[in-house]
Amino acid sequence: MKTLLLTLGLGAIGCLAQATAPETVLTNGTIYSLDSKSSVFRRGEVSFANGTILCIGAEGACAKDATDKTRIVNLQGKTVLPGLIDAHAHPIDAGRAMLDRLNTNRPVMLIATNQHNVWLNTRGLRALNITSATANPPGGRIGKDANGFPTGVLEENAAGPARALSGDRGITDLDAAIAGLTVLRQQGFTTILNALATPTRAWKTLARDNRLTARIFNAFGVFGSLDFDAIAAQARNATQQLDDGAMVASRPGEFWRHVKFFVDGVLPAVSQSAMLVTPYLVNNSNTWVPGTNFGIPGSTSAQLEDLFTKILGINQGLHLHACGDAGVRQILTVAARMNRTFTPSQVAVAHAELVHPDDLAKFATLGVPAVMSYQWAQKATYWNEPSRLTLGPERMARTEPHTGILSAGGLLVYGSDWPVDPLDAFLALKVGVTRSGDASNRNSHSSFGPQFVGRLDTQTGLTREQALRGMTVSATTYLEQEKLVGSLEKGKFADIIVTDRDFLDARAVPDEELGRNRVLLTLLGGRPVWANATWVPQDWTATAKALEDTAIAQRLNTRNILPRSISGRQCQHGSHEY
Ligand SMILES: *[C@@H]1O[C@H](CO)[C@@H](O)[C@H](O)[C@H]1NC(C)=O
Ligand SMILES: *[C@@H]1O[C@H](CO)[C@@H](O)[C@H](O)[C@H]1NC(C)=O
Ligand SMILES: *[C@@H]1O[C@H](CO)[C@@H](O)[C@H](O)[C@H]1NC(C)=O
Ligand SMILES: *[C@@H]1O[C@H](CO)[C@@H](O)[C@H](O)[C@H]1NC(C)=O
Ligand SMILES: *[C@@H]1O[C@H](CO)[C@@H](O)[C@H](O)[C@H]1NC(C)=O
Ligand SMILES: *[C@@H]1O[C@H](CO)[C@@H](O)[C@H](O)[C@H]1NC(C)=O
Ligand SMILES: *[C@@H]1O[C@H](CO)[C@@H](O)[C@H](O)[C@H]1NC(C)=O
Ligand SMILES: [Zn+2]
Repeated sequence: MKTLLLTLGLGAIGCLAQATAPETVLTNGTIYSLDSKSSVFRRGEVSFANGTILCIGAEGACAKDATDKTRIVNLQGKTVLPGLIDAHAHPIDAGRAMLDRLNTNRPVMLIATNQHNVWLNTRGLRALNITSATANPPGGRIGKDANGFPTGVLEENAAGPARALSGDRGITDLDAAIAGLTVLRQQGFTTILNALATPTRAWKTLARDNRLTARIFNAFGVFGSLDFDAIAAQARNATQQLDDGAMVASRPGEFWRHVKFFVDGVLPAVSQSAMLVTPYLVNNSNTWVPGTNFGIPGSTSAQLEDLFTKILGINQGLHLHACGDAGVRQILTVAARMNRTFTPSQVAVAHAELVHPDDLAKFATLGVPAVMSYQWAQKATYWNEPSRLTLGPERMARTEPHTGILSAGGLLVYGSDWPVDPLDAFLALKVGVTRSGDASNRNSHSSFGPQFVGRLDTQTGLTREQALRGMTVSATTYLEQEKLVGSLEKGKFADIIVTDRDFLDARAVPDEELGRNRVLLTLLGGRPVWANATWVPQDWTATAKALEDTAIAQRLNTRNILPRSISGRQCQHGSHEY
């Protein structure tokens, strides 16, 4: 009996000793934990083993547990942050966009940069039997000229059949995913929400081959379908077949816990399909007065309520696209009608570009996170004169209300919407803080010319920490994974990035330079998946380098995907001029 107890005791001590021995200690870095106390450790240390953080603290705090097997990495004073989270991106579409080649087969479909609308040539219209007699489908609009002939422009749900007919552009999901992941890890994104996902084997294939370099949450979605029973069945099917269950530090997986639905369209002219409380303005002899267009509703409120019941009923969350103030209000009204508060993952508004002042506080009271794209708060082609005039100055002054939602107690979360814009984490963070772009960055509309330089409006920007929290720990609160990822704390996953410059230090980096930063090292569950600095151990650099698929990398074109459509102006796209 005694012997047994002794053995057990020793075993336990042995386990404990093994568990506390760090495999790796990162030392001599400025470490921002983004924990609830906003702990910062200058010349600090963080250690981990088996993909999980063991210790975070001041100089010596973690290294004291090192054994002769522990690797010590001197960060040379660089900045350590939690891995970044993007709670609304389209990685497969982005991968395709970066790999695409002009396909000369006719008919031709062009997808608008807002991803909502398409343009078909005559052959395309013919293939879909779209004529002057074709009526608008629910939630969609078929562009017609003054004589009633289809112009080729198909908006919102009307674009669905054209997309279905257009096929897969000859790029496999796997190649697109590899391309998408390449850019994500270079920018330090370790977890993302794939915001309009269809079931694919790509993530499983990559996980099997140890090439999955981000944790992928997927919001299942069908563009333009109001068959909620079918959507619920398909979403549940995807969850059952593809969801990897609890997150594991050293094994990034895929998770299917949300359904994406489009409550409205987009704000900018010429689309004007986002739903508004008061109509888009029209030009009445040089005065701008409300016209008749309230935008294009994706559904009625009763239908949306039905969607809530069905999706929450199968224990999935709703990731709801709404850009206009009436679209946002429709969600909040239906949410209120449910007579309950929600857990963060259950109901989220994606984009929320325009929110009625009366509704700002409802995000907090109902427990509905806002997933917003910071970079849209810069002067940009989509805020061109027609867009500004048709919204009018009162509404323009309150677009992209990051601080408005946050200061009313709401949960503000970042989502890039990549590839609607190029993925550029630090540019987005910069715009969140300053509400202006960066003329030196070709991913910023400010690089197009002086008319795009300066603040979009006079709204208060986010603090640096608020902006960063939206891209880290608040995003994991939304995904209900904050116990595992999003901040650097003992027991959480070693999803860690090291950046060249200190985003949070106003003395080191002035506001104007906030977007100029580079991710030097990305660790996913302690595994180096991206490295680009001389102080990084050589075998880590080699491990990260081995992930690069040279065939894909050669085809990758991360440039030239920023929309340059300026109404009435000449546009340049690579060497082509339009
Ligand atoms: C390492 O972590 C995995 C899950 O991430 C776990 O199954 C395993 O037991 C851990 N190993 C040790 C030695 O802690
Ligand atoms: C820590 O990094 C700084 C660079 O910021 C360097 O000057 C210093 O020598 C490093 N300290 C140690 C102990 O390596
Ligand atoms: C278009 O109409 C033709 C005949 O009118 C029919 O055979 C074809 O299936 C239709 N195509 C589509 C895409 O509806
Ligand atoms: C469920 O998934 C299987 C396998 O992917 C597929 O064959 C089936 O059609 C799916 N059912 C629904 C309702 O989506
Ligand atoms: C508004 O309409 C007037 C004619 O009523 C026209 O002269 C003016 O150019 C229009 N303004 C814009 C911005 O389209
Ligand atoms: C919410 O409460 C109101 C008033 O009590 C009731 O009429 C309504 O049916 C309830 N809605 C739901 C979804 O339970
Ligand atoms: C790697 O770092 C060098 C500077 O040390 C920089 O010029 C280069 O652009 C970086 N590569 C990438 C892909 O970020
Ligand atoms: Zn999107």
